[in-house]
Amino acid sequence: MDACMAFEDVVYHYPDAAGPALNHLTVSVPKGLKTAVLGHNGSGKSTFFLHAVGVLRPQHGRVLLEGAALGYSRKELAALRRSVGLVLQDPEQQLILGTPLEDASFGLRAAGMNEGDIRSRCMEVLEQLGLADLRDQPIHQLSLGQKKRVSLAGVLAMRPELILLDEPTSYLDPLSEVQLLTGLDIARSQGATLVMATHDMNLAYRWADWIIVLDHGACRIAGRPDEIFAAGGTRLPAGLAMPLLADIWYSLPRQYISGRPAPRDSEQMIQRLAELLAENSTPGHSGGNMKSEEEEQD
Ligand SMILES: Nc1ncnc2c1ncn2[C@@H]1O[C@H](COP(=O)(O)OP(=O)(O)O)[C@@H](O)[C@H]1O
Ligand SMILES: [Mg+2]
Repeated sequence: MDACMAFEDVVYHYPDAAGPALNHLTVSVPKGLKTAVLGHNGSGKSTFFLHAVGVLRPQHGRVLLEGAALGYSRKELAALRRSVGLVLQDPEQQLILGTPLEDASFGLRAAGMNEGDIRSRCMEVLEQLGLADLRDQPIHQLSLGQKKRVSLAGVLAMRPELILLDEPTSYLDPLSEVQLLTGLDIARSQGATLVMATHDMNLAYRWADWIIVLDHGACRIAGRPDEIFAAGGTRLPAGLAMPLLADIWYSLPRQYISGRPAPRDSEQMIQRLAELLAENSTPGHSGGNMKSEEEEQD
């Protein structure tokens, strides 16, 4: 799998902090996939993102984008900013100008695009995120969910190849979450690589194609969701909960789940369970329930 971004043995210690925030972190972000970064508070997720956009610089090791080590000159950082976009956890820290349209235009204007193109690009993005009607509304009057989408609009307008989101759905109501995830789907369909840090294991499980688990600033495990969760919670840091659907699925007897793709949402789960029930109640099948077949094969 091609890496969009790779960290090699990266160490970062904040001044005055007791321990390192990134502790010899080696990890890659697969190109073209949706990656969830999981880990407890303080495990290094935000510090990882700040390195990915060049705001922080490794004290040891290096960060690579498309195989080339990041440089930290003004010019190189300006180029990096066009390729990698970060949506901060707190939109108040991200939004600088008065209205969604002005804010979304900021990066393109700084990059020297002409005004007509800026406007059409920004209107397209605001429309995709359901913000077109709010384009001239003062940002301070918007809800948190709307502010988060305006932050995302500013990043999407730049059409970066890699989009990083730091806990984008925290404190969002379900509708705002759907609107935000829909915006991400559009970016994904246009070819962007997406990375989301989240505490929400259920969201990570249904959304991500790839999972990275950080623990004390290092990569505890990385892989496809089925690889990570098939072993139950044993491969996760203590206290990180299993996603509910994975917990149920991988608790079923092995012979029922082997060879079947793990359900990623409740609809798929219902479908798989219905198939299992149908197969196990056909005439001629001994006992007609799961338990007796398991015993038979033992
Ligand atoms: N500005 C800072 N100054 C000192 N320590 C920090 C700072 N930001 C984060 N840290 C510390 O670095 C570690 C990693 O933090 P962070 O990257 O924010 O983790 P996460 O995003 O997973 O919660 C934590 O121990 C945290 O306390
Ligand atoms: Mg954080």
